Amino acid sequence: MAVMEQTLINRKSDQQINPAAVLSASKLEYTPEVAKEMAPLYERVKSVVPPVEWPQMAPLIKAINDLKKQRNAVILAHNYMTPEIFHCISDYVGDSLQLAVEASKVDADVILQCGVHFMAETSKLMNPSKKVLISDVKAGCSLAESITAADVRALREAYPGVPIVTYVNTSADVKAECDICCTSSNAVQIVNSFESDKVIMVPDEYLAKYVATQTDKEIIAWKGHCEVHERFTAKELNEYREANPGLKIIAHPECPPEVIEAADYTGSTGAMISWVKNNRPSKVMMVTECSMSDNVAVETPGVEFIRPCNFCPHMKRITLENVYEALLEMKEEVTIAPEIAERARLSVQKMIDATT
Ligand code: 13P
Ligand code: SF4
Repeated sequence: MAVMEQTLINRKSDQQINPAAVLSASKLEYTPEVAKEMAPLYERVKSVVPPVEWPQMAPLIKAINDLKKQRNAVILAHNYMTPEIFHCISDYVGDSLQLAVEASKVDADVILQCGVHFMAETSKLMNPSKKVLISDVKAGCSLAESITAADVRALREAYPGVPIVTYVNTSADVKAECDICCTSSNAVQIVNSFESDKVIMVPDEYLAKYVATQTDKEIIAWKGHCEVHERFTAKELNEYREANPGLKIIAHPECPPEVIEAADYTGSTGAMISWVKNNRPSKVMMVTECSMSDNVAVETPGVEFIRPCNFCPHMKRITLENVYEALLEMKEEVTIAPEIAERARLSVQKMIDATT
């Protein structure tokens, strides 16, 4: 299916987008001046943003970029953001590890996180003196919601002396109870950094199972799942492979083990992007959230993307409209209780020190 046609289908299932309402409320207009000023940005995303949508997006993009300067703010955006956010308003983009490292280096007064809540919390942990905003506090994560600090304390009691590694997809409360954090790009390295031959990994069962295939350590796993990646199946992948000779399939480690086994490569969202850029396959399927393919397609002409397409409903809460409102009204500010923050920060900092 052509990229544009597929993008239109993707957008229909995204119920968060209502630019017309915000435009009329704020009197932002698509004037000839706005059209001219925003033309280079449209040139960048025209293969994945339909022309009919651009007149509603362009005034918001201009207003957001102007507001960023007025507020001395930077936007950190995850790879799952929609292309107009990823390519037109973001200052830094990346996977969870790349964003955490970028957050620690931000000099501006304000960080606006375009991603889910645990990512905004991680930015706050990494750069506590900055005002960190998220445009929808309800942007959660099924993994982060699957475990509490009390659960981690219970694990400690059940397995005395066994180190506990938390995936970054957790609340600050959970990070504060664990020995160290990891992301999908460094989980194996972090697990191997312990001398113990047993390691507990929370909360992603499938990431833990993937790590177990790459290490000699015994891994004790929590049973949390990503609601987006758990829906992929090996059967689905094999059907796409049969229908598309020469197809390369790359998968995120949050996928079930049978999916990872059926894929040609497994890595974090950042590693998946690098893999496509470096290998330039003629046809590729990224087994992860939909917007990734749109965002990479913009930068890799000549690569055809086959899209099994599962949306993360939490990531899709972040829209141009609410980003504009967040910068206008300087809300919602992300705060972390001081007694939690220092221990949680240490867990993320230890990971960064060990792997970057
Ligand atoms: P990455 O760190 O690979 O970007 O993963 C974050 C995430 O939430 C994937 O679902
Ligand atoms: Fe969480 Fe899955 Fe969404 Fe990533 S894709 S934020 S792991 S629910």
